[in-house]
Amino acid sequence: MRQRVLFNDGWTFLLGDCALGDKTPCFAKTKLEAAAFKPCALPHDWSVDYPIRQDAPSGGGGGYAVSGVGWYRKCFTVTVPEAPERRVVLQFDGVFMNSTVYLNGVKAGGNAYGYSEFAIDVTALLVPGENVLAVRVDNSMQPNSRWYTGSGIYRNVWLIICESIHIAQNGIFIATNGLYKSQTEARVQIQAMVENDSGEDADVGVEHRIIDAEGNEAAHDAAALYVSAGARAQAMVCPTVKNPRLWSDGDPYLYTLETLITKDGKQLDRVLTRMGIRTAEFDCDRGFLLNGTPVKIKGMCVHHDGGLTGAAFYRETWERRLTLLKDMGCNGIRCAHNPPAPELLDLCDEMGFLVMDEAFDEWLLTKFKSVEYGYSSNFAYGYGQFFTEHAESDLVTMLRRDRNHPCIIIWSVGNEIPEQSALEGVRILRFLQDVCHREDPTRLVTSALDNLAAPEQFCTREEFECALDVAGYNYVARWGMRAETLYDEDRRKFPTRRFIGTENPSAGGVRGCYETRLKDPAGGAHDSYETRLEGPASRYRYDRVTLDHEFLWRYTASRDFVAGDYLWTGIDYLGESRWPLRGAVSGAIDTAGFPKDTFYYFRSIWNKRNTTLHLCPHWNWPGREGEFITVIAYTDCDEVSLYLNGRLVGTKGYDFPNVGALGAWNIRAKNTNPTTHDLHLAWDVPYEAGELRAVGYKNGTPVAEQVVRTTGAPFRLAAACDREALAVNGIAHIEVKALDADGVAVPTADTLVRLRVEGDAVLLGMDNGNLQDHAPYSAPERRLFAGRLLCVIRGIAGTDNVARVILSAEGMEELVVDLAMSFL
Ligand code: GAL
Repeated sequence: MRQRVLFNDGWTFLLGDCALGDKTPCFAKTKLEAAAFKPCALPHDWSVDYPIRQDAPSGGGGGYAVSGVGWYRKCFTVTVPEAPERRVVLQFDGVFMNSTVYLNGVKAGGNAYGYSEFAIDVTALLVPGENVLAVRVDNSMQPNSRWYTGSGIYRNVWLIICESIHIAQNGIFIATNGLYKSQTEARVQIQAMVENDSGEDADVGVEHRIIDAEGNEAAHDAAALYVSAGARAQAMVCPTVKNPRLWSDGDPYLYTLETLITKDGKQLDRVLTRMGIRTAEFDCDRGFLLNGTPVKIKGMCVHHDGGLTGAAFYRETWERRLTLLKDMGCNGIRCAHNPPAPELLDLCDEMGFLVMDEAFDEWLLTKFKSVEYGYSSNFAYGYGQFFTEHAESDLVTMLRRDRNHPCIIIWSVGNEIPEQSALEGVRILRFLQDVCHREDPTRLVTSALDNLAAPEQFCTREEFECALDVAGYNYVARWGMRAETLYDEDRRKFPTRRFIGTENPSAGGVRGCYETRLKDPAGGAHDSYETRLEGPASRYRYDRVTLDHEFLWRYTASRDFVAGDYLWTGIDYLGESRWPLRGAVSGAIDTAGFPKDTFYYFRSIWNKRNTTLHLCPHWNWPGREGEFITVIAYTDCDEVSLYLNGRLVGTKGYDFPNVGALGAWNIRAKNTNPTTHDLHLAWDVPYEAGELRAVGYKNGTPVAEQVVRTTGAPFRLAAACDREALAVNGIAHIEVKALDADGVAVPTADTLVRLRVEGDAVLLGMDNGNLQDHAPYSAPERRLFAGRLLCVIRGIAGTDNVARVILSAEGMEELVVDLAMSFL
């Protein structure tokens, strides 16, 4: 029977290389004085362990991260009956990049693309007793990415032991587009690829059971299959699920498929695959249809880094981030610009996100990567180096690994691919799109186009945009004259085109930064938040940061034929930056997972279940008494009254969507207050210390209130942990604030906080969301930024039965957070 065990323990790591001339490089030898190798826990990203350097070869694109070559080693014993009865496979979910795997000194395999899963059958290389696994990871060709990649074995490793007759790697394919219109029955098409590595032809049984979330059998079916020795064969069945509970973004209901392979009454293999029953269609008039009903995609693009954990994937980090995005009303995720960790897709299945899974940022034409932002280098490494040799297999790997996830509604074969304007482009596009259709006939394909109306020499070729199943629009409003009309014009020109916003302006900025006065450029802060993100010219200024998106959303919301949007980005990310920034601030949430004000903007227009009323900026402006400060409210209330120290400043409401007329064209349903077509409300308020209070009304009834107070100086620390118990290898997030003497959180606090961990846990890192803070994330001290700080700890095996985090700051009482250890 199959065993699949996590293979993350007991690894050691060394940053550096050895001579590679020999068949067995020194670091791959079984006998090695390996003292220089230090224990390391997987998932592991060595880039995030080292301080960033302005002269790092990865450049601003790669977030100034240290890269280079590193080696991993692991000694293990495994008891496996002799081949050919059993197969032993090592599965790597992601190694960045150019990895070579050696087992007992013999080269066993490897992978170039850092985002592809790869599996190696190591049966023939295993020895009785101790085995030595060594992995060389080469991320030295720099710059090789436009964003932070991380380096190393940054996703899980699995050891799989199975019989010689078994289900092939990613060999199950479940298609649920056979849902009846009445939705009372779904024909589920299941294909199982069986591999026969034994020396004899075999007659096997392939049995499937679909089990609902309560554990009841919803359907079953079986097929007989003949598999020749050394070959693979596929069996297909189409069981019917009666009265299926459908998967949707609002009710992400999941079933499990159990697949058994039997021979002569003996069970040889068993695989569980999670599935959801749903249909996903794109229509040229109605946009995106989930289970036959139009659903507007309110999506966000995300890169794969987790902030302080770098590229290392931790489920809890992404659970926390996705929970926030869901609360924001976001219902879609675009995995920019590469296949994500498989667990990210599991979370999207469970939480109900509509996912665009993307294969590449480059085909043959390598994009420039900035050494300093601004493309100072015209030579760069990148996927273009590998495209010819590996594109098909990398794409197939993504499709087969991911196609059973109900969350995935569309594939993307590329982001802003320069070939869109090249003669050869459409040939490559057709090839990749055909591979998608071959591996998964149930989903359509897009590619994110950024040059649809560019000047002629760069413009996307018409045959390229027309070849796509769904035309992907990046920055639809980018092209001056056509900004307001692009979708409409193209719809008139191509009436059968399906439209999706693959990437469009989000609303980012720096959390808690409200400066609007231009600093003196000679004042030294010439290349920092102060001048780049503030000042009258910046689109990130807090009082105008949402305007681009407001313009776009009014347009997207009122065009049914546009499926929706994925915005750049949901969360700030490392890389694509210019010193002294180490990352990009385009997110609605910062790298520490703290919502920015713009988070509430999106929540106010997207989250239809909960009321939003959010005010900004903070109200600590000593020295600016009497000066006008723009106060913004993000709200879904019909109207909001704003009070300063008890006096009414004014009441305002929205005029979009149009409030309609009562009985006659000129009698408006609501015309008592100043209204705005903007999707935010604003007042210019002369500053005086005290209290701003907003009261929000729906249908004339007060439903929400928000108060922003002028605070005193930081007086004590306060912490909130997202769990009470911690498991070994589990993660806990502790959010820290500074309160004034009245217990009000100080929004401007930059208190230096020190942290000690005792008991069965270690510090994974601290982050405050400030991408100009260069302290290594793993350092045990960090400042609050705009009043907040995140500490992340990881449970380890121990005997204390408690994990204790002690937070201290000068002049303040120590704060202790205790977590029990859980053993589940
Ligand atoms: C887009 C690109 C993204 C990112 C973004 C920055 O054009 O697709 O990867 O570079 O610009 O604004």
